[in-house]
Formats: sequence, structure tokens, C-alpha cells
Amino acid sequence: MTDYDWRPEQARKSLNRILPGAEEKFADRLFEAQGDWQKFKIRLDCQWERLFTYLHALYGWQYDFFYTLERVLCSLVEYWLQRPPELKLLDEKRQVDPNWFLSEKVVGIVLYVDLFSDNLTKLKDHISYFKKLDLNYLHLMPLFSVPLGDNDGGYAVSDYRAINPDLGTMSELSELARRLREEGISLALDFVFNHTSDEHTWAKRARSGDPEYLNYYFTYPDRELPDQFQKYLRDIFPTVRRGSFTWNEEMQRWVWTTFNSFQWDLNYSNPEVMRAMMEEMLYLANQGVEIFRLDAVPFIWKRLGTDCENQPEAHTVIRAFNAMAKIAAPCILLKSEAIVHPDEVVKYIHPDECQLSYNPLLMALLWESLATTEVKFLEHSMRHRSRIPAGCTWVNYLRCHDDIGWSFDDVDARKVGIDPAGHRKFLTEFYTGKYPGSFALGVPFQFNPDNDDVRISGTLSSLAGLEEAVKKGDNELIEKAVRRINMLRAIQVSIGGIPLLYGGDEFGQMNDYTYVTDPTKINDSRWVHRAKRRWEARDDLADQDTLEWRFFREMVKLFRLRKEIPAFQNGAMEVISTGNPHLFGYIRAFENQRILVVNNFSDNPQKMDTGRLEIYGARGDVVNLLSDTVVSLEGDLMVEDYRAVWLDIS
Ligand code: GLC
Repeated sequence: MTDYDWRPEQARKSLNRILPGAEEKFADRLFEAQGDWQKFKIRLDCQWERLFTYLHALYGWQYDFFYTLERVLCSLVEYWLQRPPELKLLDEKRQVDPNWFLSEKVVGIVLYVDLFSDNLTKLKDHISYFKKLDLNYLHLMPLFSVPLGDNDGGYAVSDYRAINPDLGTMSELSELARRLREEGISLALDFVFNHTSDEHTWAKRARSGDPEYLNYYFTYPDRELPDQFQKYLRDIFPTVRRGSFTWNEEMQRWVWTTFNSFQWDLNYSNPEVMRAMMEEMLYLANQGVEIFRLDAVPFIWKRLGTDCENQPEAHTVIRAFNAMAKIAAPCILLKSEAIVHPDEVVKYIHPDECQLSYNPLLMALLWESLATTEVKFLEHSMRHRSRIPAGCTWVNYLRCHDDIGWSFDDVDARKVGIDPAGHRKFLTEFYTGKYPGSFALGVPFQFNPDNDDVRISGTLSSLAGLEEAVKKGDNELIEKAVRRINMLRAIQVSIGGIPLLYGGDEFGQMNDYTYVTDPTKINDSRWVHRAKRRWEARDDLADQDTLEWRFFREMVKLFRLRKEIPAFQNGAMEVISTGNPHLFGYIRAFENQRILVVNNFSDNPQKMDTGRLEIYGARGDVVNLLSDTVVSLEGDLMVEDYRAVWLDIS
């Protein structure tokens, strides 16, 4: 009987043994929560076998595994008991409509609190701004307590339960979450779970030599193991530091630090780390956070002899978090931040793992098509790499707070006649403005002399040519840049997934080079696209005749239109062959609605011929929903330079 699976029965047995103890421990509080407790138990019953299986896979070999199960269950009950009633109601609402986030109605923004509005209190006064943009998903960049000076833009967290005092307090965050909920806006935050800062209490205790907390991190007395690991690891921030280990004087030990030396990687092979981080996640969920962006997911599990990225156990860890969330705070959604090879990106996407994922391939290839004016690479890749499991969706972005990396697949590139290494070099030169005729003004990020790898920083506007055009004062070039930007946005909102706007892009924010005057930022060119917002609150809604307002109005229009087109919800997306190397086309369909989207990546008008249109059932007079005009498809379809058309061919 080799295929006998003992786990379901054992999971049940363990739960039956553990649950009475937990019920006794929390008896008084459970008595008050009677009805709700039954609901909790139903969810526990549904998720337990899966949670047990994950935890067993990770920790079953440890002699006190049963104790781990007990501790995990008690934490789940504790945090569920602490959950405010209105959030329990939200849990129920989401359980009735678990796929709410797949809707065409969902659009989001991500921003830095300090750059946008100084602090959380003032941010509350800007809810009308989000309403004007018709947003219902607000991602705030990390806002926790961090070390002074360089803290990797908030990604070195010293305390997950304390807000950076410059930005506000935890009760202000909960209050903001409540106000947002009233307006139908879901709050998203980062769950920086791969590492803490070296000032986190756990790190401090480890530094003082406490063995319990030393085991929260990866520390080594000498170079023996670090050297063995290092052979296979890549440097993430090579211009800042080489190697993934940092010597700590106080401990007299090497510490694993994948990113900066002040960011200590957490040791998930220790079940206490898993449980403690689960408590941090549930604590934040109880403040009203609905969506967690899982930061740096590929790095959370280490295995000697591998590059320690995307290990199978990394998936198991995330699935365990997913199961825990579904038990104690089921409205939670997890979003994967895996900016790695596309084959690996999709592995994190599953209803039992991350329901949401950044779409780094689409982002990179949109920029690639803009540089080459040709769409063959984009078309080929999207044709076979867009599909993800039901109940999940992409988060489509053009820019974010990070750099752009050319993480496309080399085989895909060769298939369309592109030499991958040469092409990466070309793209880098193009987007740093070095390539003759380039319109882009980007800044190189993290050049690695060992493999010539380099990534790109810069805002949407500066990379798409607006900054250069404005500098030259050339209206024709400005017009072209505006069209490029608006075409990219039109793709972002129509191709399938949640469009996530990077705060500032809605009004065309350009690069800000002042970061070079700040010693804590000078070595990190990503600050060029993390600029302080220029507008005052009162001007936000003032609708003026400026370039900024043209962008803003277009963004509002695109979001509104998307919300009126059911075919733009998550679901079928068929990439078509337009027969024209510059036209990227796809069909979005839902029930009886079919929308043919065609985007022109070239500088000149382009046509798709009638024969091709016929193949996709596009004929006669149709409405271009983007311009609200009637287009005759009796002849060829003409698409103006850098324009998108959304043809209703239902
Ligand atoms: C993620 C963040 C990035 C940060 C890194 C380390 O990739 O997006 O900004 O530097 O994780 O936390």
C-alpha cells in the first residue's frame, strides 16, 4: 500500500486532541462568542487538513511537532477572538462573494504616505481624491517603525505593530482602514516577511546571544557554511554590497542578509518564526488590512546547493499562511511579489497560495514593445503565459516603486528571432537614453560587473519620453509621449487583471533627481521615481487645463470605462494575430460581450486588414468604446500612431 495517504486521518486525530484544550483555554471568551465560534470551527474544519499537511511537510520531522500544532491553533483562536466585529462581518461578506476582486470594477493605486500626504491623518482628507479616481484598492507602501537613515524605503521593519511615528499611529491606521471601508476601498499593505531590520526586538535578542532568537535568523560563527551557500547565490544589490552575509561584531557571527546588511533574513525552518509572523499578519488584518503584498517571496526558504530562490518550501510556507488566513481572517487576500523568471512567477498563483500576483512580464514587455515599436515578443509571450488558475488574477502595473528588470524567457525571445542577451543590453541602453534616437530618460540600477546585469529606474512619464520632450519644449514630441503613456494605460486597464496605478503617474509625475543630495538615498536610484507629490490637496480636485490634468482626466475616463465593460473583468483573453508587426491585439469576452482591443506601438498609423478582422468576427459598423465613435470595418481598420481602440464586436 504505497499510495496510502495517512495525513487526513492523522490531521483529524490531532485536531480532535488539540481542540478541547484550546476550547478550555479560551472558555470564558468563547462563551461570549458562541455563534461565531461555530463559524470559526467550520472554517477550521475545512482548512485544517491542508494546514496540517503544510506544517507537517515543513516541521513534521521535529520531535515537538504536536506542540507546534497546538501553538498555531491557539494563536489562530486568540487573533480571531481579537478580531473586531465589523471585520468579522466583512469576512462573511467576502465569503459570500469570494471572487469580488476579479471584477472589472476593481482598480487600485499604490503610494507612499509621506510623499503623498505627509502622514496618515492628512491621508484621510484625501479620500475624495481616491473617489474621484474611482479607486477601490489602496496600497500604502511600508509604514512601520524602521531604523533611522537608510531603511530600504521602509522594507526594513523594526516592529510590525508600530507605525513610523513620522507617519502616525496604529490607531490612525485602523481608523483610516475603517473610513476606507465605508467608501468601499480595500486597504493593502506589505507583509515584509522575508526579513526584519536588525533593530527588531527579535534581532536585538539574537544579538544579545539568546539562543531562542538566534534561531529566528540564519547566523554562523565562521565562513564555512556561508561560503558553501554563497557559491550559488546572486547579489540582489551588487552596487551596495557583494555577497549575502554580513558580519555582526556584537554576536561575532555572520548573518544572512539577502538585501541590505541591515535586513536580516528570517528562518522559516523554525516553526516559531512561522507562528510569530502569522501573528503579525493577523494583528494587521485585525486593524483592517485586507490585502497583503507578500514581499520578496522567492527568497523565504534556503537550501544548500541551490540559489535559494523559489524553493518548493517557499510555496508551502505561503500556503500555510493562506490556510491560517482563511481560518482566522478569511477576507484576507495574498499578493505575490515574485519578480523572477516567468515560469516561477506563475507557481505562486493559486487560490490556496497567492490569489493575486504582480504581472512583471507584461510590464517588461510593454516597455520592450515601446522601444522596438514591434509587438512580436509581447504577442508570443502573452499568448502562452497569461493564463492563471481560476479564482486568481494578475495585478497589472506599468511602474512601481522598484526598478524594471528584463526578466523575460530566453527561449521565448529566440522563438521570435531575438537574441536575449543582446536584447537586454539594447533595452538597457534604450531606457537609459544612451541608444541613438531613444526618447527615454531612465537611470541604471544595480549594475553587476560579473554578468553585466543592470536594471532601470525612472517614472512612467520620463521613460515614455515626456521629460525629454518637455525639456526640448517640443509640442509634437510632448504629444507623442502623452499618447504612448495613454496607450500603455489603456492596455493596463483592458487586458485582464487589476490595474494598479503608481501614485503620481495619474498626473504624469516625472523623474526627481534630488535623491542624489541625500546620503541615505544616493546609492539607490529607485528614489528617482519616488518623488514628493507636488500638488496641494486643494488643487487635487480643481480640474485645470494643464498637462497634469490631461493625464488625470484620461485616467479617470479609463477607469470609468473599464467599470462599464463586463468583458474587462478577469477571464478570457485571447491574443490575436493582427498581421501587422506594430499592432498588439486581443479579444476580451464575457457572456455575450466581445471587445476587440488593438494597440499601435509605432510612430505611424497602421492598418489591420479586413481579412484578419473577419477571422475574429469583426465586421460592419462597430463602436470604439474608447473614443465613443463609430468605426466602419467594411475596409481595413486604421489605428493612429500610439493609439488604442476598443471595438465592441459583440
Ligand atoms: C521587495 C521590495 C523592494 C525591497 C526588497 C527588499 O522587492 O519591492 O523595494 O528593496 O523587497 O525588501
